[in-house]
Amino acid sequence: MDYFRQKHAAITGAGSGIGRALAQQLNAAGCHLYLSDVDETGLQATVASFTNQAANARCTVVDVADAEAVQSWAAAVAEITPQLHLVVNNAGVDLMASVAETSLKDFHWLININFWGVVHGSQAFLPALERAERSHLVNISSVFGLIAVPNQSAYNAAKFAVRGFSESLRQELDLAGSPVKLCCVHPGGIDTNIARRARNVDPNATEESQQAMFAPHVRTSAEDAARQILRAAEKGQRRLLIGSDAKIIGWIVRLFPTAYARLFRDKAVSALSDAPPDPPSDQSPHTP
Ligand SMILES: NC(=O)c1ccc[n+]([C@@H]2O[C@H](COP(=O)([O-])OP(=O)(O)OC[C@H]3O[C@@H](n4cnc5c(N)ncnc54)[C@H](O)[C@@H]3O)[C@@H](O)[C@H]2O)c1
Repeated sequence: MDYFRQKHAAITGAGSGIGRALAQQLNAAGCHLYLSDVDETGLQATVASFTNQAANARCTVVDVADAEAVQSWAAAVAEITPQLHLVVNNAGVDLMASVAETSLKDFHWLININFWGVVHGSQAFLPALERAERSHLVNISSVFGLIAVPNQSAYNAAKFAVRGFSESLRQELDLAGSPVKLCCVHPGGIDTNIARRARNVDPNATEESQQAMFAPHVRTSAEDAARQILRAAEKGQRRLLIGSDAKIIGWIVRLFPTAYARLFRDKAVSALSDAPPDPPSDQSPHTP
């Protein structure tokens, strides 16, 4: 982790989960941090958990869905440091509902955060990343950017879009001889607040019931996920699948690009993957 000492990194969604764990590990490594989230209390708790008080951490409340807010944050960061070495477009939300039940408002809400947030962050921070000798843009997709499941259409669409956007941008950077290495990350089930905070059309769903449904599908801690992300960035890795669940699903999709849905429905791989043993017909199986 010495690689990040005295470097400068910006992270969205740093008030919880993977974003918080990334911030903690980068802080411990002596990296200067520019953290944002919509949740000011979460951001404060992240900073309060830091072990290395010598490294700077500046927090800004930013809604990644708001292009102008992300641009102003990037401009404020550029006034402090012209160069950034790492940007992680991490902020994200989930929504559990069938296509028929999902309002256009909810579709827009999720896509604006999970997809447009990544586009806003990439465009706003690319100039600062380009100014460094070697730098890293990390976009967080999901295993649900590799495989689709029922009741996650908005999330699936956004995470597939993050992957397409990132793979196209990476080729542009490579062709231009850019110093920016882009890594697209596909985590499986990670122990965070994503399910607890998900929007759900079921009026009986509570934070606790959503978390209880998600818990059996968690394979990796947020800390371990963050460690893997930082290691992959340092190595200049282009793609990272986190967790045995994501790796197995990655192979299944390659081998059975359309039949995978039947495999999951038949529970042939349920013991190996995030598909629950008995998904209730009206609920999504899992939320990454
Ligand atoms: N937890 C999983 O199993 C899992 C799996 C695959 C991918 N992911 C992805 O990992 C990323 C991090 O999620 P997490 O699991 O740590 O969840 P989390 O809920 O613990 O953290 C997400 C953070 O994003 C912030 N956020 C939400 N909307 C925002 C907005 N509009 N602008 C700025 N910040 C906003 C939240 O306040 C929160 O602090 C997300 O992109 C998520 O889709 C998570």
